[in-house]
Amino acid sequence: QQEKNLSNKKVLITAGPTQEAIDPVRFISNHSSGKQGYAIAKAAKELGADVTLVSGPVSLPPVDGVHTIPVTTALDMFEVMKEEAQKADYIVMAAAVADYRPAKVASDKIKKTKEETQIEMVPNPDILAWIGQHKQENQIVCGFAMETKDLDKNAQEKCIRKNCDLLIANNLKVEGAGFQTDTNVVTLVSKNTLKHLPKCTKEELGFLILRTMKEIEEGKSLC
Ligand code: C5P
Repeated sequence: QQEKNLSNKKVLITAGPTQEAIDPVRFISNHSSGKQGYAIAKAAKELGADVTLVSGPVSLPPVDGVHTIPVTTALDMFEVMKEEAQKADYIVMAAAVADYRPAKVASDKIKKTKEETQIEMVPNPDILAWIGQHKQENQIVCGFAMETKDLDKNAQEKCIRKNCDLLIANNLKVEGAGFQTDTNVVTLVSKNTLKHLPKCTKEELGFLILRTMKEIEEGKSLC
């Protein structure tokens, strides 16, 4: 039984992938399972927080006692987050938001031909960067970064650029880290510190992230 030390906190979490429609039957997405975001939501609930989970399409069961708002596209997620962020004390952005979406969604199924074809893509808004820019006083924001090289350097730059208090960096190429696994191997990154952690379960990492956010709020540094 965990001590309910987040009982006065509102925690807002994003999880899962987004799906960006090409036509009524096809979409562009990624391999995110939603496991890490759901594990954080579960941990926050166990710690007594009032939890809202904004979830892309996943095949995980809902978390008991957590207010879950389902979304499909990055634009849907952005609209919900602009609203919900105003009420949150802690925000954890674990979703793998698609960076681009098709410029046009065809209203009918695109017919197959023998020709090469191209899909024009436009960038999606960076939701975490928006949250960082509009961060309220006392709000603690945690982002994620998945990289395949120069992890520490890229993650720290990302933490600064997106104005996060904490960034959870993982390298997709390390065994036991990444999308479909139940474990993760991460580095906790702040604007001026880096802390490499040993492999842990996504559940354990959920509690650790929330504890670290509380410590940051209390003015402690990561080391
Ligand atoms: O820049 P990059 O996609 O690596 O950043 C990852 C972090 O930014 C994650 O926390 C993810 O949830 C968030 N993100 C976002 N909106 C995007 C892209 C990423 O909120 N369009």
